[in-house]
Amino acid sequence: MTSVSRAIREVLLTGDKSAKVFATRKLARDWRAGKLAIRFDCPMPDRPEWPSDLDLRLPRDMPRRGKGGSEKGRLALWHSLAHIEFVAIDLALDMAGRFGESMGEDFVADFLSVAADEAMHFALLERKLDSLGSTYGALPAHDGLWSAAKDTAHDVAARLAIVPMVLEARGLDVTPATLERVRTQGDENGAKILQRILDDEIRHVAFGAKHFRSICATRDENPPESWRNLVKIHFSGGLKPPFNDSARSAAGLSRDFYEGIV
Ligand SMILES: [Fe+2]
Ligand SMILES: [Fe+2]
Repeated sequence: MTSVSRAIREVLLTGDKSAKVFATRKLARDWRAGKLAIRFDCPMPDRPEWPSDLDLRLPRDMPRRGKGGSEKGRLALWHSLAHIEFVAIDLALDMAGRFGESMGEDFVADFLSVAADEAMHFALLERKLDSLGSTYGALPAHDGLWSAAKDTAHDVAARLAIVPMVLEARGLDVTPATLERVRTQGDENGAKILQRILDDEIRHVAFGAKHFRSICATRDENPPESWRNLVKIHFSGGLKPPFNDSARSAAGLSRDFYEGIV
């Protein structure tokens, strides 16, 4: 039987976008069906493979999107969301493959299911781009999204603190306003995609918070306090209100985590 870590590594090193989506969903199915050996005998790559023709740019070199409802602006929005979801596939896979051995089977199951969700989100957005006459890779993409993974590769608590509990939680804060804007522009299909993503992301943040709390319990640490310390060390962006308190609390991120950190 192939080990789960080898299977994860293979998907991380798949650069073609459709092949990565397909392989991620197959990996999650194989895991659930018990077709993978629970062995961590294979290291995760430092950086996953992405489409070779992707035009990656530093954040400061990204074209300005603007808030207007121009066709160009709308295309840029869907493209940037597609990129975020594409990278999110690899973030979830790396989480499971890198930290699965120390964290156990539930953890692997949770983050492989996250990876499958992200693959679905990406596929929905790719279809959306297609309906607009575009495709993922047609526009430049932000090259900062893997840095959080690199910075936290040494410590699962730091990884959980930043990726699900800062970055994905930030998605909960900003998605409702984007959804409203898209709906106001008459794009009901786009609004539905964003609602689906928002609902799933609550679960992703919840997995992060759950496993973070369990690590804190074994280390005898106070979860909000150690989260704030890790955010200070590993996240330079600063947390921006307004926070989506109801979605955050549904994900187990109570206000005592982020109140006062702004
Ligand atoms: Fe997602
Ligand atoms: Fe997510």
